[in-house]
Amino acid sequence: MLEARNLTLHHGGSQILHGIDIDARPGRVTCVMGNNGVGKTSLLSLLAGRHPRSGGTIRLDGRELGRVTAQQMARMGVGYVPQGRAIFPMLTVRENMETGFACLPRNQRSIPDEIFDSFPVLAEMAHRRGGDLSGGQQQQLAIARALITRPRVLLLDEPTEGIQPNIIAQIGRVVATLRERGDMAIVLVEQYFDFAWDLGDDFLVLERGRAVAHGSKADLRREDLHARLAGHAAA
Ligand SMILES: Nc1ncnc2c1ncn2[C@@H]1O[C@H](COP(=O)(O)OP(=O)(O)OP(=O)(O)O)[C@@H](O)[C@H]1O
Ligand SMILES: [Mg+2]
Repeated sequence: MLEARNLTLHHGGSQILHGIDIDARPGRVTCVMGNNGVGKTSLLSLLAGRHPRSGGTIRLDGRELGRVTAQQMARMGVGYVPQGRAIFPMLTVRENMETGFACLPRNQRSIPDEIFDSFPVLAEMAHRRGGDLSGGQQQQLAIARALITRPRVLLLDEPTEGIQPNIIAQIGRVVATLRERGDMAIVLVEQYFDFAWDLGDDFLVLERGRAVAHGSKADLRREDLHARLAGHAAA
């Protein structure tokens, strides 16, 4: 569904990504792993159309994309849940979700019931301000806002960061359910190893903007992947 090859990206004069290949396929979770500052968010923001690539190709459903904006990517079915959630604190929970409507045709501008089934707290808190929610609730809201656009590709940037365990477990269940539905391709950036290993089908490990390991779960050993990440965190 989403196939990217040889991606490069710069921030100002410095090259951040060096020739990254990544695929996202329906019914599969592709995990992007790596320690702080290796370029995970840069890769995701490139795929979301939020930052231009300096080189490489992106194909969506076999069609090669030129230079695209974030809004075009959203319209083409790429949903993005940014690191740090980016909730609008002064808007209500419902209004935050409705910001996702902008990229939908008018007749699809409704909030599907299953979103509230996945995250019941958002129904309870629909009229509260985004800024009144806990970090975990804001993360659920950010995921809900992306799901409202009915994405075919969902990009999640560290959804467990700074969140209490019971909400992490709930987010994990929602991601697993979306994956089992089979029609959505999920890219999960994650440093919480067990969460990523449990949910992931394919893995890509970055170090200083380069891919240093990749493969499907069947091709990789948990211990090797863990050691690679932990080893560098300690170094
Ligand atoms: N807007 C920016 N301008 C300049 N440099 C940037 C910018 N954003 C990120 N960088 C640099 O790019 C590199 C990769 O950053 P990025 O945020 O993609 O890493 P990350 O893997 O997501 O890190 P983290 O785990 O902390 O979220 C870092 O060296 C960072 O300092
Ligand atoms: Mg990041």
